[in-house]
Amino acid sequence: MSPPLRIGLAGLGTVGAGVVRLLEANAALVASRAGRAIAVSAVSARDRSRERGVDLAAFAWEDDAGRLATRADVDVVVELVGGADGPALTLARETLSAGRPLVTANKAMLAHHGLELASLSDETGASLRFEAAVAGGIPVIKGLREGAAANHLASVHGILNGTCNYILTRMAAEGLEFADVLEDAQRLGFAEADPSFDIDGIDAAHKLAILASLAFGARPDFPAVAVEGIRGVALVDIREAARLGHEIRLVGRAQRLGDALAQSVTPCLVPRPHPLAAVVGPLNAVVAEGDFVGRLTFTGRGAGAGPTASAVVADLIAIARGEAGPAFSMPAAQLAALPPAPAAARSGRFYIRLQVLDRPGVLADLTASLRDAGVSIESLVQPAPNPDGTALVVMVTHESAEPSVRGAVAAMARLEAVAGAPLLMPILPLEE
Ligand SMILES: NC(=O)c1ccc[n+]([C@@H]2O[C@H](COP(=O)([O-])OP(=O)(O)OC[C@H]3O[C@@H](n4cnc5c(N)ncnc54)[C@H](OP(=O)(O)O)[C@@H]3O)[C@@H](O)[C@H]2O)c1
Repeated sequence: MSPPLRIGLAGLGTVGAGVVRLLEANAALVASRAGRAIAVSAVSARDRSRERGVDLAAFAWEDDAGRLATRADVDVVVELVGGADGPALTLARETLSAGRPLVTANKAMLAHHGLELASLSDETGASLRFEAAVAGGIPVIKGLREGAAANHLASVHGILNGTCNYILTRMAAEGLEFADVLEDAQRLGFAEADPSFDIDGIDAAHKLAILASLAFGARPDFPAVAVEGIRGVALVDIREAARLGHEIRLVGRAQRLGDALAQSVTPCLVPRPHPLAAVVGPLNAVVAEGDFVGRLTFTGRGAGAGPTASAVVADLIAIARGEAGPAFSMPAAQLAALPPAPAAARSGRFYIRLQVLDRPGVLADLTASLRDAGVSIESLVQPAPNPDGTALVVMVTHESAEPSVRGAVAAMARLEAVAGAPLLMPILPLEE
């Protein structure tokens, strides 16, 4: 057997400790699949004295993670520190510049600096691999970069944040409001103490920018992702969606529209027969449409020590085998700078929910806002009024241009009889 592949591991938190555990538990299997042993040489974290539930005694310790990039006993650096910039980015740059392969789970860094790092990787010939950065344990990067490499992809969609999916599906299953489930999710460890990155859609947007780059041969462009989180989704929306035969999911959507790229993360109504509607709890899923392969659906656990370590070690096995190839499936210099699709190019059916004062003429004012914007209504429901004199109105539009619908909703929000902010959600077509 060849000499071991020697790892420099930066970050010993949830994922880093999981990698140490997996490499130890499955050492023989990993060695036979990789054709050589994979062994940690040196590690780095902030606090050397912290108990991590894994034995680090055999590994050298570096206070400065950056030194892993040039240590003589390291062949591959694994970056599991996190953060778009700071020490993770410094380590990534230094590692690739030194001609060493880099494995990372850091979606924020790739979404913001993916092009630069992929260019460095091309220049020095050092692999950049990031299976764990999108959808945790699901091999979706390998699936798109290799398995579907022969296809033009029409779209890639996904449930990319397990925290949001856990919250939305528990609201539906138990009839609970968003704030109650969030609090419980924090207590149970399914949501962070500061959950904003997850519930405001940023984490999913990082992953979408990476997927879109792979799928469409485009430069990762995080600022171009239109992002909306799930704070505005109420139990009543989940019930109304169910009445319409839909589930509510936070969906990342990327589509090529002509020469432009539409990227969004937003809560959507997903029709029950769509594969994303069946994804419950903290699971993730990605659906891609290829011109020859047809629809591909990847599902599994999108976070946690075990699934994420599984993806990191899969990348290490690929490197140990000598597998190469550009980070985003084509050389960085060939990745297109696709402009964001203009809002006018986006269209679809939409769900609109409003709280209104229950008095005559209100419905006429609402429908006039839609008429003035050229949006026609497929259905309108007004359930029984609330005891406080307000009433709910739920509308579904016909296929309409998104800016027209947004304009109509903005006009409705200005009506004196409309209480609180309206909620607007796209309805995902079954075939998308
Ligand atoms: N957790 C998941 O399920 C998951 C899933 C997919 C991707 N990811 C990604 O994986 C990465 C790691 O996530 P995680 O959940 O494992 O994070 P974490 O538990 O917070 O661990 C981060 C680790 O980085 C170390 N660290 C922080 N600053 C450092 C520095 N300047 N130099 C060296 N080490 C430093 C910390 O050291 P101390 O322990 O000493 O504080 C800690 O060990 C992130 O990019 C995350 O987005 C995580």
